[in-house]
Amino acid sequence: MSDHLTIVTHPLVQHKLTLMRDKDTSTASFRQLLREISQLLAYEVTREMATTTKQIETPLCAMDAPVLAGRKLALVSILRAGNGLLDGILELIPSARVGFVGLYRDEETLQPVQYYCKLPSELDERLVIAVDPMLATGNSSAAAVDLLKAAGARNIRFLCLLAAPEGVARMKEAHPDVPIVTAALDERLNELGYIVPGLGDAGDRMFGTR
Ligand code: URA
Repeated sequence: MSDHLTIVTHPLVQHKLTLMRDKDTSTASFRQLLREISQLLAYEVTREMATTTKQIETPLCAMDAPVLAGRKLALVSILRAGNGLLDGILELIPSARVGFVGLYRDEETLQPVQYYCKLPSELDERLVIAVDPMLATGNSSAAAVDLLKAAGARNIRFLCLLAAPEGVARMKEAHPDVPIVTAALDERLNELGYIVPGLGDAGDRMFGTR
């Protein structure tokens, strides 16, 4: 573990992840688990959010109490699987702004191709959390972060469920300033670009496609 990579080893996260990896877990359960685990991961990825104080009155006395400072944070879903992480995080941070980056992976070159980009305003003043369940080759994640930086984002974090060593290395090379939070660092990628042992295609498993 380093400043660049945080693996959330909390037993609840690890237990839910094991259930999600199991190929016999249903689509409905996978989706519910993803919602729950996204909240636990969001807790970690927002740990360094800036706070200020506000004067309030408790029933007993006045106090200066902590509140979040600055602009609302921006969540950016990397389509389509990133959407599976949104609902849970938005329950926890309902005022977050939400953006979408659409990248598909060319199955032959494994390189990302952009087809959609819609981002909140004033990204330079927000904590920006890019979400994608699977950090595999890292090519689409690095390309998504390129887009966020081009749109002005300066304080970016990357949240995923599973990471492969190849993806972490690629992100560290391209974006050493973007910390990654994940539930597990798996062994490797296979020849098709899937994370092993992994959980299969995250989009297919959460949406019940294929
Ligand atoms: N995307 C997925 O959904 N699964 C993988 O294993 C790799 C990339």
